[in-house]
Order: sequence, then structure tokens, then C-alpha cells
Amino acid sequence: MELRAVRGMNDILPEEVERWHKLEGAFRLHAELHGYAEVRTPLLEPTELFRHQMGETTDVVEKEMYSFERHGDQLTVRPEGTAGAARAYVEHAVHAKEPVTRWYYLGAMFRGERPAKGRYRQFYQAGCELFGDPGPLCDAETIDLVAGFLQHIGIGDFVVHVNSLGGAGTRERYREALLAHYTPRKGELSEDSQRRLAKNPLRILDSKDQRDHEVSRDAPSILDLLDDADRAHWDGVRRCLDVLGVNYVVDRSLVRGLDYYTRTLFEVKATAGDLGAQSTLAGGGRYDGMVAGLGGPSVPAIGFAMGMERLLTMMPGAPSRRRPGCFLAPLGQAGADRALVLAKQLRALGVPVELDGRGGRLKSMLRRADALGARLCVILGDAEVERGVLQIKDLVAHVQEEIPLEGAARVLADRALEASPGAQRGAR
Ligand code: HAM
Repeated sequence: MELRAVRGMNDILPEEVERWHKLEGAFRLHAELHGYAEVRTPLLEPTELFRHQMGETTDVVEKEMYSFERHGDQLTVRPEGTAGAARAYVEHAVHAKEPVTRWYYLGAMFRGERPAKGRYRQFYQAGCELFGDPGPLCDAETIDLVAGFLQHIGIGDFVVHVNSLGGAGTRERYREALLAHYTPRKGELSEDSQRRLAKNPLRILDSKDQRDHEVSRDAPSILDLLDDADRAHWDGVRRCLDVLGVNYVVDRSLVRGLDYYTRTLFEVKATAGDLGAQSTLAGGGRYDGMVAGLGGPSVPAIGFAMGMERLLTMMPGAPSRRRPGCFLAPLGQAGADRALVLAKQLRALGVPVELDGRGGRLKSMLRRADALGARLCVILGDAEVERGVLQIKDLVAHVQEEIPLEGAARVLADRALEASPGAQRGAR
């Protein structure tokens, strides 16, 4: 039987992981520069959490969640990070400890979508959630954080789309306006949308079905229905974005696929590359009702998440693998024993070392050292050990030299670290 990875779930091999580390490291730094601290929440949450917060009639909840029962509990492998973060925020009464909370996270999310380039069933998000600030200044700062991050990692081809959904009152009036628009043309809608019409007509605007797009083309815009407070917030967000110099477009059709949003919504879309329909690099918005909906006090919140795989397809830089600073090629028993000790000493000095313990011929060990991209190869034969020396072969400069075994670790460490500045000089 041939066992393969689950469809839509990918192995990430070491040569690719190097770029993941770069991206993750850059995100951590960027988020921390903006005052965010990392939070880690479980991969499993009660199914009810997502059903309630993301919305019963969303695609994710209706069709895509990995849910199961265990020990009498209904559980779901998280399809996103926001609901779990808000649950943790309420559960630990964080609002009582600080007025404003900034959390970031990195991690795997799971959605049973149809796999395609840039769309997977296990994918990784980097996200931020901010609790306790009603904005609009912080809405603009959040959007600027995303745009600034993309630029920082070398992605320039993107457009920021923003829209406002208004608060609860506006949403209700919008629901009625949408019902009035869609009901006479119900027969032209997809089956999903016909079913969702009465419960949640907003979801029709977000449908991927061409039939729904046609009927939605002249649907009313929520921006025309904002009440005074929503309008002031929306004007404030745009003013702050202008102050920050963020390039954005107002996208009246932007509703996003989750039910918890209020007021500001945004998405960042790639304008180059080959992501096709999966060009949305990041999405987010305000969700002022979630904390109270989870039994907490009325605390406003805003956040976003970026798809890491999508960022990686756009981020410049080729896959690479860390090179060993030193490759040890022992010949014979005494040479091997000495190499074991030398490898330990070098690692203690912070030099990445690979010791070839296969006991093969020198030629094949040198070939291996070359393939790994090692700068230095140390040849340690029984004859060398007897004379108290070793041979260093510089694989780039193509020179060979003999040095005393005594004190060799220090000499090798200095040379190896000079050759690969990425290694940790003097570590441990
Ligand atoms: P979302 O729009 O569902 O929002 O996902 C955010 C980003 O995750 C997308 O823009 C995309 O880059 C990536 N993504 C989503 N699904 C997949 C997939 N199947 N394969 C690959 N990448 C994917 C959220 O998840 C919200 N929690 C964002 C948020 C945070 N809103 C407020 N706070």
C-alpha cells in the first residue's frame, strides 16, 4: 500500500524551511516592533466556538471544518486564529489586567477546501489581534502594519482594499436592503445563496458562484447606509490611512467570508505572480462584538491574518540549506575517535559540523563535503593522528594545509566562522 500525505497538506522539506524561518523571524520582529506579544492557543477548540463566532452560514463552518467527537466533546481543528484568541482573552480575563492587548500568532490552520495553488487544507497563518481600542486610528495602524510588513519582506506588487460594514444597526438596515434586492431575483441565485437568503443575505455578496455575481452586480452598497457614528469612524480610518501614506482602494464589494466583522474590513491582494484566484495575501477587520459574544465585557477588537504559503510564493529569495562550517572526514579507527571529539569541541564553539561516519573512501567523503557546500573539510587519518596533526582542505580556495591537532578546534572554528558569518560565533 502506498501511503501519501493527505490531499491539500504539504511536507515542507529542509531546503524550503530556511525561507519559512526567514519569513517567521521577520514577522515576529515586525509584530514586536508594533507592541504585539506572541500568544499560543490550542489547535483544537470546541466546535461551538467557530460555529457561533464565524457564523453558521459561512462556507468555512458549513463545508470546511475538520470536526469530530472525542470523549463526548465536539471538537474542531482550528480553521483560523481569531476565535481562539478571543476565547483565550475572555477566559483569562485579560481585559481586567490591561486596557489594550496586542497578540500575534503563527501557526497551522485547517480547512477542507478544494486544493489549488495557494489554497491548501493545512496552511499557515501569521496574524495579529488587538483588543481594547475602538479606533479608527488603530484600524489604520493595523492596515499599515500589514502593508509595511509586505514591503519589508520584498513584496511590492499588492493593493490594499478597504470597506466598512458598519455596526449592528447599519448591518440590520443593510440586511433589509439586500433582501429587497435579492428576493425578486431569487430564482437566478445558486442553491447555496437561495438557502442563505433569509438567514444571511450578506453571504451572497461573498459567493464564488458566477450566477450570484450577476445578481450581485447592482446590489446596494453598505457605504450608502452607514449611520453617523459608522460614517465618522470610516472617515477617520481613511484620514489616518492618508496621514500614513498607505495606498488603498475603497472596495464597496468587499464583505469577507466570516460573520464576525463590524465596521472596518480590509484585504491585501497581490497584483503580480501566479496565485490566480488565491491572490489574497492577507485579510482582516474589526470584530467589536466577539468578546461580548463570548461572555466577556464589551471590548472592541481588530485583527488580520496573512497566508504564509502565499507570501512565500511572492517573497524574493531562492530555497537554500544551511551549510556546515566544517566537514570531518575520518579514515581509520584512531582518526574516527579523534573526529568524534573534535566535532563535539567545534559544536561547543558554535560551528555547525557534519561528521562522515560511514567509513568510506576519502574521495566519496570529499564529494559529499562539496555537495553540502562545506567550506572546510578536515581529513583525519590514523597516520595523521599518530603524528599529532590533521589536514585542512579549503574547498573553495582549493588549498590544503597541515596543522597540529593540539588546539585545532579553535583554529578551525575561527576559519569556519569567518567563512560563514551566519554561524553563531562563540555560541554556548
Ligand atoms: P481569512 O480571510 O479566512 O481570515 O484568512 C486570512 C488569510 O489566510 C487569507 O487572506 C489567505 O492568505 C490565507 N488563507 C485562508 N485560507 C487559506 C487556504 N485554504 N490555503 C492557504 N491560505 C489560506 C481569517 O482567517 C481571519 N481570522 C483573519 C482575521 C484576524 N480577522 C480578524 N482577525
